[in-house]
Amino acid sequence: HGYFTHDPGFTATSSCESDITYIDGQNGVLLHRGYSIEELARDAEFLEVCYMLLHGEAPSAEQYAEFKHTITHHTLVHDQVNNFFRGFRRDAHPMAMLCGTVGALSSFYHDDLNIHDPEQRLRSAYRLVAKMPTLVAMCYKYNIGQPFVYPDNSKSFAENFLNMMFSVPAEEYKPSAAVVRAMDRIFTLHADHEQNASTSTVRLAGSSGANPYACIAAGVASLWGPAHGGANEACLNMLQEIGSVDQIPTYIEKAKDKNDPFRLMGFGHRVYKNYDPRATVMRESCHEVLEELNIDDPLLDVAMELERIALSDDYFKEKKLFPNVDFYSGIVLKAIGIPTNMFTCIFALARTVGWISHWHEMLSQPGQKIGRPRQLYTGEAQKPYQPIKK
Ligand code: CMC
Repeated sequence: HGYFTHDPGFTATSSCESDITYIDGQNGVLLHRGYSIEELARDAEFLEVCYMLLHGEAPSAEQYAEFKHTITHHTLVHDQVNNFFRGFRRDAHPMAMLCGTVGALSSFYHDDLNIHDPEQRLRSAYRLVAKMPTLVAMCYKYNIGQPFVYPDNSKSFAENFLNMMFSVPAEEYKPSAAVVRAMDRIFTLHADHEQNASTSTVRLAGSSGANPYACIAAGVASLWGPAHGGANEACLNMLQEIGSVDQIPTYIEKAKDKNDPFRLMGFGHRVYKNYDPRATVMRESCHEVLEELNIDDPLLDVAMELERIALSDDYFKEKKLFPNVDFYSGIVLKAIGIPTNMFTCIFALARTVGWISHWHEMLSQPGQKIGRPRQLYTGEAQKPYQPIKK
């Protein structure tokens, strides 16, 4: 009879119980299965993080070897997936193609899929984690008009992805260890982040019993927006637009102006009211990578000065706006050679394991119900209908 909590934007609503990820936004803490993101980014490989998100605990050496073997042997996509790409405009945004082709996987894996069987759910999860790099690299190759590169099972997860992105038939791409490590770390830093918009989208889509590949396509769609995963692309575009350190005050003023929709991209977070711990790691990684690759990127100077000025400004202090993970990730991705319009696809590739872990957890919870929010109706009261002929 209508005693609902009205909470637009879900600022104070817990939608589920979850064992996967813990965030303490006041103190800037992020844990996956109890392990801190700082330790994971330093000492773990992305696939280890995938294993713990999916299985609840870090793997033993034996479990990890088996898991890597499984993921590596699911990397190919069916040859007919190529046909989906041919239907896209050659200059289609890669996130548009990713959304469509991940959804298309549901047509390959649907009829014999029983989502109530945990083993089958895990098999869907392995397929998705394994095939995302292949699809993301295909989006890039299609855009630039080069032939697709098949996955190479002898390479590590990150190296295989870079190979599918940058190898051309006549010449194999050989990234340095620093580049492979930086790529892997970016994946780790984006692997999961509890009930953000895209994860909540995947859970809500999945709560009706829908096909998991279709649910992940819904997650990709939700991630695309500039307030969420699209922020890394928007942030690099912003740094490029600012261009030089002397332009920063103008942009700070624009961001503070209530009548100007401009926001400092890569700043602020719904949950973190402190430094985003992922941004701290990304900042370090950014310096390391640029140094190792001997790149002098003026955008890094703009970013550092922007951060310094914003953090000492009363507006940003009062609203507790700190740099988030996307503030530095763009500079690292650019240094690796990834074009700006591919940034959000990289985020989607990494977050897929988080999405599917939440989907798997939700379906394993007893008494799981379809998600069905209510509303505050603000329309008209009942009134008589006049048929058009009268
Ligand atoms: N620049 C300038 N002002 C800002 C910014 C910003 N980046 N972010 C928030 N504000 C202001 C906002 O105008 C509002 O002011 P007021 O109270 O006077 O109306 C106040 O701070 C609170 O903002 P909000 O939009 O109500 O907060 P939210 O929790 O709904 O939004 C956010 C969080 C991340 C969408 C927002 O901070 C934002 O748009 N940031 C820029 C985009 C971005 O970097 N997104 C990536 C998030 S991290 C990656 C991910 O998890 O997806």
